[in-house]
Amino acid sequence: MSTLALIGCQWGDEGKGKVVDNFARKADVVVRFQGGNNAGHTLVVEGEQIILHLIPSGILQPEKLCIIANGVVIDPKVLCEEIDLLRSKGYFPDDRLLRISDRAHLILPYHRAIDLGSEKKKGKGKIGTTGRGIGPCYSDKSARVGIRFSDLTEPNTLKEKLRKVLEEKNLYLTRVLELDAIEPEPVIEEFLGYSEHLSQYCENTSLLLNQLIKEGKKVLFEGAQGTMLDLDHGTYPYVTSSNTVAGAVCVGAGIGPRLIDRIVGISKAYTTRVGGGPFPTELKDELGDKLRQQGGEYGATTGRPRRCGWLDLVQLKYAVRLNGLTDLVITKLDVLRGINPLKVCVGYRYKGELLKDFPARVEIVEELEPVYQEFSGWEEDISLAQKFSDLPSNAQDYLKMIQDYLEVPLMAISVGKEREQIILLKEPF
Ligand code: IMP
Repeated sequence: MSTLALIGCQWGDEGKGKVVDNFARKADVVVRFQGGNNAGHTLVVEGEQIILHLIPSGILQPEKLCIIANGVVIDPKVLCEEIDLLRSKGYFPDDRLLRISDRAHLILPYHRAIDLGSEKKKGKGKIGTTGRGIGPCYSDKSARVGIRFSDLTEPNTLKEKLRKVLEEKNLYLTRVLELDAIEPEPVIEEFLGYSEHLSQYCENTSLLLNQLIKEGKKVLFEGAQGTMLDLDHGTYPYVTSSNTVAGAVCVGAGIGPRLIDRIVGISKAYTTRVGGGPFPTELKDELGDKLRQQGGEYGATTGRPRRCGWLDLVQLKYAVRLNGLTDLVITKLDVLRGINPLKVCVGYRYKGELLKDFPARVEIVEELEPVYQEFSGWEEDISLAQKFSDLPSNAQDYLKMIQDYLEVPLMAISVGKEREQIILLKEPF
């Protein structure tokens, strides 16, 4: 096994950052392949919290090559800030350890303005985006008017493209969204600065990755967001603007499907969602508040409180199918301590009918009534558990039931925030 994709199976925030950090110890290369700085991967290293939005979390491990591949959208301002942050904390000693695809698209100030402006215009029906310009940037990519990372390496072309695109964007900003126009010259100035700073990282990362895989290097593909936020398969339109499922690894990194050996899905032991959109097992009561408090459920990117609810096995089974999972990681099991009984959704009732699959239309998803199975909880502190057998029998039963229902073997269980708080049942590579 030399390649592994780690994919979020819920609405994002499954704890991917911590697991990537752990798996990266055994990897040579860590790759981001979709999304942008809408993601926020929180890591706790020796008691210190580090949140990364763009650079793969593998950067915290010495000597790992980190790749931001073509499917990612990059805000160069955020990238520079992240590089500075890492350097100030003594990480990322060598510029060659970060490679960025020449084909990745850039987020520009007008993308952020359009994201915020169109959300405001939507009013009640807003998606609740992170406001980082992700959607408008992917829209421009599809409309073939985007600016790519390799454009940073050609300052004259960059200037020309920026001037032209700003003319059009300013019409949209002022006439449709009724916002102020963006002055071209300061933007051009700013981006010429990025050109100087960031051109050194630009590379054909598809070519590089294929070579590395051929040499037998261990490659970890780090998913962002989660399956239910996938543009095609999620709760559309309350989704992000990229494909988040395992298939996106190939397109987003420029490798063929046969090169992915293992597809590991990651899920919390319960469910959370941030932003708008339907969430069948949401708890809008004290129990939901308790989960939020015990789990520290506040967005890593925007700080928004996350909506919390029971584990939804129908939704997870859907994720198993969409991603073709070979293994499963369950995180934040420790958060369920003291909650008794525990409930798990095993079906949805809709207009008297029992549904066993996730419906396409959000109007239906909004009306689903979850069918729950109950489990006995546990009172013990499990945060120091190192082996499966260290867990109380009720926690073991809870995990076995998830594994049996989903028909995917467990690979790891996370029982706390710290790097070491993980029960590894199988080596990732
Ligand atoms: P966008 O990706 O900023 O366009 O936001 C679209 C939706 O995806 C919103 O509901 C966001 O809250 C959600 N979202 C985007 N990125 C993440 C993430 O990393 N974790 C959880 N939710 C996210």
